[in-house]
Amino acid sequence: MSQGENLTTATGCPIADNQNSLTAGVRGPVLLQDVQLLEQMQHFNRERIPERVVHANGSGAYGTFTITKAIPNYTKAKFLSEVGKQTEVFLRFSTVAGEKGAADGERDVRGFAVKFYTEEGNWDLVGNNTPVFFIRDPYKFANFIHTQKRHPQTNLRDANMQWDFWSLNPESLHQVTILFSDRGLPASYRHMNGYGSHALSFVNAAGERFWCKFHFKTRQGIKNLTGEESANLIGIDRESHQRDLFEAIQRGEFPSWTVKVQVMTEEQARTFKWNPFDLTKVWPHSEYPLMEIGILELNRNPQNYFAEVEQAAFSPSAFPPGIGPSPDKVLQARLMSYPDAQRYRVGTNYQQLPVNQPRCPVMHYQRDGAMSTGYGGSSPNYYPNSDSNAPKEAPEYREPGLALGDVVADRYDSRDQDDYTQAGNLWRIFSEDEKNRTAAAIAGALSGARQDIQMRQLCHFFRADMDYGQRVAKALNIEIDPALLQQNQQDNPQPVTA
Ligand code: NDP
Ligand code: HEM
Repeated sequence: MSQGENLTTATGCPIADNQNSLTAGVRGPVLLQDVQLLEQMQHFNRERIPERVVHANGSGAYGTFTITKAIPNYTKAKFLSEVGKQTEVFLRFSTVAGEKGAADGERDVRGFAVKFYTEEGNWDLVGNNTPVFFIRDPYKFANFIHTQKRHPQTNLRDANMQWDFWSLNPESLHQVTILFSDRGLPASYRHMNGYGSHALSFVNAAGERFWCKFHFKTRQGIKNLTGEESANLIGIDRESHQRDLFEAIQRGEFPSWTVKVQVMTEEQARTFKWNPFDLTKVWPHSEYPLMEIGILELNRNPQNYFAEVEQAAFSPSAFPPGIGPSPDKVLQARLMSYPDAQRYRVGTNYQQLPVNQPRCPVMHYQRDGAMSTGYGGSSPNYYPNSDSNAPKEAPEYREPGLALGDVVADRYDSRDQDDYTQAGNLWRIFSEDEKNRTAAAIAGALSGARQDIQMRQLCHFFRADMDYGQRVAKALNIEIDPALLQQNQQDNPQPVTA
């Protein structure tokens, strides 16, 4: 917004008086025609959006991820391909259980969500400051979170709820141990590690798959509060972590993390002593050593907290080529949950907002919805289409199928089936009259399409039954070259009789 310009309404019309309502005489009443007052009051009523159902309280900053060791042997992801390569990031830290406005210094797990704006699309690593989680099956998530929030009657956080759930679900013990250890009270967001927690997949240019886990080690050193320090801090500053992060960046004291990965081969995964995709387990460092790949630095505060932090939308489903999901059940559920939450919380077109927008071209056939900025313009809104300028599939990005016992998870082509025999069978049982009526009805509809589209569709009628094609062609007044007909039959040896 430029400085010193005249005030206007949201429709851009100048405002002469922005402090006095339009009234009938000095003592009122207020007139309905005070559209400035109405606009301001109505917009104010809509200033809040729903808070995140978890991780509502948070702080964010932009930064840079710089590669110190490239790993093309493991992944073809371009942003990881060369030493020195830099990628813009946005990182949002959070507490989990508290609502917006909860104290930053409370004992809780901390969220560590990083959006990498890579040249091949956004990659969101939506992790925590712990390497494991409370549950290993997503079915338990909603119930677990209820126990961390407020009691339905007292509206208080409730030890019975929390420990009832934890004691009935011993898979939580590893994470509970970390939560109640010193690391459950980080001194600030700058002084804690981040972990992707889930196993993810890497795929290299040769189509080989590996499993991996990401670790972000603070370069400020781990620093925690004691229980007493935390209570005192909350008493004087509920926004301690927000303040610490914002002010450190404003001072030019940019926090940074060393980014490391653990890698497991598919063969090692088969023989690992635990399920390698169990989110309640780590991969021991001694068996799967950490490998440094880069440095992540935060160096720019957002200009507008609501636009850039509140409306930021991270999802474990955002993957560039070369990085993907693993069979971890909790991760699989999260792939669906986050974009769903964001369509509700922010809106259908949340990905068009500047903080969420990829820094590379975005090309798809999703259209419209609330608050669309007109994505797609006048180009086709369906696929496949005949427009040579419209976005096309890029088969070179295809990744190998994933063997799951006797079946392989893959995108199977459903287009190589017999599309003609049964349509032809139906044609052949039509009476003469019905054949003529059908051909006429098709010709009536098809005559509105371009000639190249008419010809492509005619070929399908011929493939189903020669008579079918001939009658539609005749109804369209199209002369068919017999040589072309013969070619069509040779190219498409589909059965034309039952
Ligand atoms: P290691 O001895 O090789 O790893 C221990 C790791 O634990 C350290 O490298 C450090 O990781 C982390 N750690 C140190 N102090 C604490 C603490 N007070 N609270 C939580 N984590 C701490 O053994 P393993 O790899 O077999 O791991 C043993 C345990 O350490 C795990 O069960 C897990 O609870 C914890 N841990 C393991 C991690 C892993 O990926 N293997 C990662 C983090 C914790 P860091 O430098 O990342 O803080
Ligand atoms: C936020 C669901 C497990 C880390 C959220 C949100 C939802 C959600 C709906 C709010 C999203 C939004 O409105 O933008 C789930 C479900 C889980 C799960 C269904 C399991 C079944 C986890 C795990 C981690 C995690 C295992 C970490 C390893 C986060 C973080 C945020 C978040 C960091 C905040 C992101 C931000 O800063 O905007 N989760 N979650 N969640 N979740 Fe999860």
